[in-house]
Amino acid sequence: MLSFILLALLAHASPIQCKHPHSHPHPKINIIILAGQSNMAGRGGVFKDTITETLTWDGMVPPECQPNPSILRLTANLTWVEAHEPLHADIDYNKTNGVGPGMPFANTVLNKDPNFGVIGLVPCAIGGTNISQWQKGELLYEQLVKRSQFAMQSGVYRAMLWYQGESDTENQQDAELYKDNLKRFFSDLSFDLKTPKLPIIQVGLASGPGAYIEEVREAQLKTDMPYVKCVDAKGLPLGPDGLHLTTPSQESHSAKCWLMLSLGQNNTPKDIFILAGQSNMAGRGGVNHGKWDGNIPPECKPKRSILRFTANLDWEVAREPLHVDIDVGKVCGVGPGMAFANEIIRSHRSGTGIIGLVPCAVGGTSINKWGKGSRLYDQLVKRANEALKDGGGTIRAILWYQGESDTLNKDDDETYKGKMVKLIEDLRLDLNLPSLPFIQIALASGEGTNTNIEMMRKAQMGIKMKNVKCVDAKGLPLNADNLHLTTMSEVKLGLKLAYTFLLSFSHFH
Ligand SMILES: *[C@@H]1O[C@H](CO)[C@@H](O)[C@H](O)[C@H]1NC(C)=O
Ligand SMILES: *[C@@H]1O[C@H](CO)[C@@H](O)[C@H](O)[C@H]1NC(C)=O
Ligand SMILES: *[C@@H]1O[C@H](CO)[C@@H](O)[C@H](O)[C@H]1NC(C)=O
Repeated sequence: MLSFILLALLAHASPIQCKHPHSHPHPKINIIILAGQSNMAGRGGVFKDTITETLTWDGMVPPECQPNPSILRLTANLTWVEAHEPLHADIDYNKTNGVGPGMPFANTVLNKDPNFGVIGLVPCAIGGTNISQWQKGELLYEQLVKRSQFAMQSGVYRAMLWYQGESDTENQQDAELYKDNLKRFFSDLSFDLKTPKLPIIQVGLASGPGAYIEEVREAQLKTDMPYVKCVDAKGLPLGPDGLHLTTPSQESHSAKCWLMLSLGQNNTPKDIFILAGQSNMAGRGGVNHGKWDGNIPPECKPKRSILRFTANLDWEVAREPLHVDIDVGKVCGVGPGMAFANEIIRSHRSGTGIIGLVPCAVGGTSINKWGKGSRLYDQLVKRANEALKDGGGTIRAILWYQGESDTLNKDDDETYKGKMVKLIEDLRLDLNLPSLPFIQIALASGEGTNTNIEMMRKAQMGIKMKNVKCVDAKGLPLNADNLHLTTMSEVKLGLKLAYTFLLSFSHFH
């Protein structure tokens, strides 16, 4: 999950690099700078050998820290090699290095976003260093800038991970000056790297040798700079020295980073779209005989600027099937959501450059199951509110594809329009968005007779309310079940929804 925040931060930073997309025909290395002191350099698995009385690394490399051909490391002598633990062996060379957060972080990013590309880690951390030693003009600062600038010749800056401060907990004056020194370091660095929006992910101390841990933590948790995020390491298990994170801590630290980041990450503003209705919104494209074929057309490919709100209320990079943990108990396939989001991104009309999709559709649900007070209604409102937490963005529209189950019975058909109008009014009221755009889809198919389906379509197209649009799905090819849209039909529908949104509501900056 850490990946998530990082990814969102990265997505945020990407316009800097994307201004001249054609001048760099080759994919570039995604540079992650690692800096700070011992817990960044890595002491996981380092123990005191009681016979030789020396510090030794146990050599254990957990699966999360394994090498990967897509993870490189910049050596002390400025060459790129495949990264493996201990990442800082030739950098913090006077100490015994073990597992740090760099490898589990990089593996998590690649795991969450397989299209991320090659990661280039630039280790720069040195154990026992204080914040004064990281100020501009000092050796460590100049080394950091030099190594980062070298890395930049073959890459783009994505973020710096910073874990430091233990050494500043011993003396009250150091602790008091910590915040100013830290902020000066961050702003000098982004200036010298010519990257004013360099995302910095710093870690809130888990430990420190001195009495002023809370003062330093306070400075870290409240650094209050736009591109700086803080991940709290407090409470993670420490080694026998009471100072260094253990190997499992470094892993769970990465996991926690991700988690903390993904929670704190909500404050990366997103253009949020709620997807609701029944099976054709949840997605059955490519589902036949109870199995999804796994085919993902190019229009539906994941992108790090398209996020999905999971059933657990976390943001992650979105991928098909979008409703996998929402429409549970069914086999989900391709729906319209990814094609829609990709088209909005492609149009460059998203104000924030990041789309947040909130899947809420559940197959086989009739309109009565969605009325105010129902479980599905409450879930939708809850998920929408959670998605917005901490300035997570703005809800731009609800995309609604439902009604197939209401064609079974003529009475349901007749009352549908009134129920739908009420639903739109209720949702706008409860979401406190009185003019929230609502794009509904006129049915392509239904469970009932053709006459009933036509009645339903008329009801849907007859809803005349402000900021309510209707997209017609009639004629889109169906699966063999004659009810569900095929993958390509879902793609076409997603594009239609995007065009309708852009045409009608694109004043959404
Ligand atoms: C640089 O370091 C790498 C790995 O540590 C080593 O293989 C390589 O020979 C070194 N190159 C030079 C020029 O020292
Ligand atoms: C390693 O120790 C030597 C000798 O004390 C010192 O000159 C050097 O700066 C140290 N280097 C690092 C990276 O700690
Ligand atoms: C920081 O560490 C250096 C090197 O150990 C030391 O000389 C210096 O006094 C320390 N600075 C502060 C403010 O503690």
